[in-house]
Amino acid sequence: MRSPLWRLACSLALLSAAARALPAAKPLLGYNTWNAFRTNIDEQLIRDIADRLVELGLAAAGYTYLNIDDGWSERRRDGTGQLVAHRRRFPSGMAALAEHVHSRGLRFGIYGDAGKRTCAGYPGSRGHEGTDARTWASWGVDLLKYDNCNYDAADWDPVPRYAAMRDALNATGRPVVYSLCNWGALRPWLWADKVRHSWRTTGDIHPTWGSVMEILDASTDLARFAGPGRGHNDADMLEAVGNGKLTLGEQRAHFALWALLKSPLLIGTDLRSIHPDSLAILKAREVIAINQDPLGVAGDLVWVHGSLRIYAAPLAGGGRAVVLLNTGDAGPTNITVTWQQLGLPAGTAAGVRDLFAERDVGEFEGAVSAAATQHDVAVVKLTPLASGNSSRAADDGWRPWHQLHAQLPPRQHRPSVRGWLLAGAAAAALRLAAVAISIARWRRRVAGSGWRRLGDAHSMAAGTVQLGPAVFVGPGRVWRLVG
Ligand code: GAL
Repeated sequence: MRSPLWRLACSLALLSAAARALPAAKPLLGYNTWNAFRTNIDEQLIRDIADRLVELGLAAAGYTYLNIDDGWSERRRDGTGQLVAHRRRFPSGMAALAEHVHSRGLRFGIYGDAGKRTCAGYPGSRGHEGTDARTWASWGVDLLKYDNCNYDAADWDPVPRYAAMRDALNATGRPVVYSLCNWGALRPWLWADKVRHSWRTTGDIHPTWGSVMEILDASTDLARFAGPGRGHNDADMLEAVGNGKLTLGEQRAHFALWALLKSPLLIGTDLRSIHPDSLAILKAREVIAINQDPLGVAGDLVWVHGSLRIYAAPLAGGGRAVVLLNTGDAGPTNITVTWQQLGLPAGTAAGVRDLFAERDVGEFEGAVSAAATQHDVAVVKLTPLASGNSSRAADDGWRPWHQLHAQLPPRQHRPSVRGWLLAGAAAAALRLAAVAISIARWRRRVAGSGWRRLGDAHSMAAGTVQLGPAVFVGPGRVWRLVG
């Protein structure tokens, strides 16, 4: 077996191949079926979601990608080796469904897997990259979410598998947004920008506050790896807006923070029954504008004290987007953000606007405070006011990680040789486990249906066993074929 280091060298060479041209430079806005429906999906549901995206004003707010997740295909490819839509659940076929989605002014997304089978056990694309990319392009697919389940142990390195699909998509000539799902394994922020549009940074989100916080913590100090010309850290879908039992404050916090991290914003709740308050959060257009800001620099943590935190991002034109977060259980607490924490000269006067309320708060110099109640946020935008003739630069060069590294040591993000070695070791362990399971199965077969142990060879009296084709004397054991 080739060493992990050798594989790493090959992976890096593969990555230097042409990066995929991006049809979309901003984080995706859209809908994904997984969180609300798992594999219980069919064409009527997709049509309903497309219609609801339009009727609820979400499409107009920017949510235009409708992504069908795992479970859309038959369990087997057809006689020609092509993936086929599930015949009972998608009787009209995917091309017709894509046409309906397109007719609503939306874009059509699908799900695939870089292994032998998807995570839910449907056919994967490994070894079929060209065929599948052509199939999807012929259906009118605009987005591919590409997962990483069920690969062969010998094929454990995800980079060649992801690159193979990148090249296959490129070869179709159709612009397809390519969204990698590798759950943060092997630090995709260090290499996935050469492969695609966005990369998942963590495991799956769940509809709990704990899960939102866990992903938020795992996202600290990743902003510097994303951005214009690279791609986006994907903190997973908007599970907690509309699903589970999160308070409105928690839903607001989840939404605002994901927007600030410049994560794709993919709605994951049932739009046929969404609560108006959750809908209002998803439609908060000034918060969405932070996510889609033309400067494209992701936000990060800039200050933390006990249960209070400040996250911030620079905006085009020299402004700042700021999320003041109260992770504690105490009631409304004032959080003060200083210009120094945001890289603004202390004497700068700035207009402050509350982005959820869509209301100007006033002009401030040096600092501003806002109250956030437990598990909730205040989200503000600071716009430095031009003094005299001076106009603000489009980008004043400040980055949130400058501030973060001044307080906390940066996380180590060395090229992940260790990760690759660990993955190699894990693959070898999987191999060994598979061999051990085969041996155990063989022994069970031998003991059950075929060979039965008669006793230890040395303790059996000579002549009690008729040695012949049906008798096997193993090391110290005597076995007889039965049944
Ligand atoms: C997981 C992925 C989920 C969903 C699921 C489908 O690997 O993280 O977002 O796509 O597979 O089986």
